[in-house]
Amino acid sequence: MHVVSTSADYNALYRQWAGQRVALVPTMGALHEGHMALIRRARELADIVVVSIFVNPLQFGPQEDLMSYPRPIEQDRAICEQLGVDALFTPSVEVFYPEGLEQVTTVVPPAALTERFCGAFRPGHFTGVATVVLKLLNLLKPQVAVFGEKDAQQLMVIQKMVRDLHLPVEIIPQATVREASGLAMSSRNRYLRTEAEQQAALSLSRILNQVRAAVQNAAEPLPAQTTLQRISEDILAPWADQGVSVRLQYLEAVHKQSFAPADTLKPGVKLLIAAYVNQVRLIDNMDL
Ligand code: PAF
Repeated sequence: MHVVSTSADYNALYRQWAGQRVALVPTMGALHEGHMALIRRARELADIVVVSIFVNPLQFGPQEDLMSYPRPIEQDRAICEQLGVDALFTPSVEVFYPEGLEQVTTVVPPAALTERFCGAFRPGHFTGVATVVLKLLNLLKPQVAVFGEKDAQQLMVIQKMVRDLHLPVEIIPQATVREASGLAMSSRNRYLRTEAEQQAALSLSRILNQVRAAVQNAAEPLPAQTTLQRISEDILAPWADQGVSVRLQYLEAVHKQSFAPADTLKPGVKLLIAAYVNQVRLIDNMDL
């Protein structure tokens, strides 16, 4: 496996791959089973698989976990090697933003896509994501790039950018990988230190599963707002006495294609959720 961290070194490799199909899996490292599924999917889709690892400062807010974000690079490297990745691209912040974060030209996705859900709580986050993804696509020149469905709003923003800017790349969504407990895999799960925090984190997938079961058992479409409120309160209330703070940031039903709010719960609707378990922010989503 080649490990490169500059565009010149990458381009030298790229020239050797002439005529071959390249798939990119962009990551921020701290690789887990979810990323491994993305890499395996990329392997099926192309001759050459490139993984990028870059903890992108542009997508973190000032109060967020940029400094403490896990960076187990040796472990990540071993995982990529084991999965037969052809090239690992690990640029430094200086290589990626040579004139600093304030001076970089940014991609600003439309407000309608970014002012709700995660965007409402993480101002500038999707500008940071869109900018770094465009830079990675331009620099690494893949024909296909694989993104996880766990970051549903991010996927939506990237698909829109690719369409709007006519980028010559196919975006492939990959289903969320879950622990046996139902917890969606995330690099931030490693911040869940105590047994109580790990149990509390299951509240997100429990809420989504219970809503889905209620919808399947109902004779007619259920009203979104009251159903989501009832089920989330039932699941979250017991945590008030357990010494773990579980704070719902949002739980919303949207139409799967447009992300417009859905008034009723029925097939074709997606549920989006974000919550803090103590200091750890987790997100999840599920299609009805
Ligand atoms: O999903 C992620 O890990 C990041 O947001 C991404 C797409 C690699 C951009 O930094």
